Amino acid sequence: MSFLHKFGTALVKTLPPETAHRAALRALSLGIGPKYKCDHTSLKTEIAGLSLPNPIGLAAGFDKDAQVPDAMLAAGFGFVECGSVTPLPQAGNPKPRLFRLSEDRAVINRMGFNNQGLDNFAKHLRARKGKPGIVGANLGANKDAKNRATDYITGLAALWGLADYFTINVSSPNTPGLRDLQGGDALEDLLGRISEARQNLTGDAPSLPIFLKVAPDLNFAQIERITEQARTYGMSGIIVSNTTIERPDYLQSAHKNEAGGLSGAPLMSMSTRILTEFYTASAGKIPLIGVGGIASGGDAYTKIRAGASAVQLYSALVYAGPSLAADICDDLAARLKADGFAHMREAVGTLAGDKA
Ligand SMILES: Cc1cc2nc3c(=O)[nH]c(=O)nc-3n(C[C@H](O)[C@H](O)[C@H](O)COP(=O)(O)O)c2cc1C
Repeated sequence: MSFLHKFGTALVKTLPPETAHRAALRALSLGIGPKYKCDHTSLKTEIAGLSLPNPIGLAAGFDKDAQVPDAMLAAGFGFVECGSVTPLPQAGNPKPRLFRLSEDRAVINRMGFNNQGLDNFAKHLRARKGKPGIVGANLGANKDAKNRATDYITGLAALWGLADYFTINVSSPNTPGLRDLQGGDALEDLLGRISEARQNLTGDAPSLPIFLKVAPDLNFAQIERITEQARTYGMSGIIVSNTTIERPDYLQSAHKNEAGGLSGAPLMSMSTRILTEFYTASAGKIPLIGVGGIASGGDAYTKIRAGASAVQLYSALVYAGPSLAADICDDLAARLKADGFAHMREAVGTLAGDKA
């Protein structure tokens, strides 16, 4: 990391978390950000037909309005997921709603889908059309939506042809009732409608990938059901996972009892266990993207060995800054080589039987 980036990251950490986030977005949009080109051939990969220079993605929530996807791609992320975006702009929950749990290398957020809505998001994606790099759109539903399933279809229709892939986010804990969409009949109905909308939008062209993003707070029966439904309705993959509503006993920070979703280091083992269960339930037949607590090349490697074909991270950026993507790529490539894997895809699922 250059001196400037080290200094910038340290400075940003002295600000209240939401101010720091805004400052980081501003700096990135002005071109003040790290640059890294991943040339490890062992990391160049594909997921659901998307070609990635490396499997390290930026998770949703950092760039809710698609303001800086190109800066994050330039920093070394292999793909960038923007959003969650809802059809209409919404303010989200009252502040404060974002907390650093520094002692625990964790974050609690109850943002509540604050974003500027689909029109603004589409405008940003239109302005970058034709540029290289994979940028996905993570879709959410407005808090006051009459029919939440309809909001996802509205998102698909508005951004079709502008985003390289879509994520259906039914796992944010901060919109009351949203997670109920992960349950049996509600998910069946939602995925049925998405699959129909996708066919209509695709026509004769090749279809765009659509992923489903799930919570870590699921039991194995729920995991089996979700996997089966995702496959039945042709989902391109499952993103495991969103933040957790659990609070492990060992948390140290004074903020540990704030309401919202917990992410960062304490989510690593929990989300990796669920990832392993998804890998077992799907017998490797549906691609998985592993998210939750990744802060190092070792963590990314653990997710890959647990069954992830690609990974994403967000919270660790709060502590390490955006040059983390580059560090993880170099470390991951070295670990693969040391273990005799010529390519990361050979390592996918190699630990799935073990406890992560
Ligand atoms: C401040 C914050 C906002 C988030 N917003 C979203 C969001 O809008 N949509 C979404 O699908 N996930 C959102 N997430 C969840 C992340 O994408 C990710 O799934 C989760 O934080 C676990 O990864 P991590 O431990 O690397 O942060 C958010 C996370 C944080 C910390």
